[in-house]
Amino acid sequence: MTQLSSNDVPSMGRRQFMNLLTFGTATGVALGALYPVANYFMPLRAGGGGGGTSAKDELGNPITKTGWLANHQAGDRSLVQGLKGDPTYLIVNEGGEIGEFGLNAICTHLGCVVPWDSGANKFICPCHGSQYDTNGKVVRGPAPLSLALAHVDIEDDTVLVKQWSETDFRTNENPWWA
Ligand code: FES
Repeated sequence: MTQLSSNDVPSMGRRQFMNLLTFGTATGVALGALYPVANYFMPLRAGGGGGGTSAKDELGNPITKTGWLANHQAGDRSLVQGLKGDPTYLIVNEGGEIGEFGLNAICTHLGCVVPWDSGANKFICPCHGSQYDTNGKVVRGPAPLSLALAHVDIEDDTVLVKQWSETDFRTNENPWWA
């Protein structure tokens, strides 16, 4: 029987090198196959449209300024579907016009939708009692932050809601939501 000298047998280093080549390639193939699968499960992004969407009522119909003001008096704060479908308050100001900012109704504590209490002139969260003033600034905890702002614009009678990324005028700080 012929004996192989130790020089003819691949050393540990060479074996590890071959392992690296083989499994490296196999990992590449596996990652290539997994990438589209992972992407498939990521929700599609909604269309950008300059960061704005039209405000919608509870049935999903776009809101018009004339239609809204016909049914909502000065001082009214009512919910519409705003950015990303978040419940957002449109404010009718004292002049009877739709205010230039809307308030995201999601409580900054744990996310309950905060109702407007016209008697107390505040937003009062029923879940743990957080309170926000007429502009959505937090005035009582446990909520740590004020309600998020959104721009409200009127274009051709349609009410549009847009991302608010400027300074928060209530606190003079950068917006925590942008
Ligand atoms: S979720 Fe509003 S106070 Fe807790």
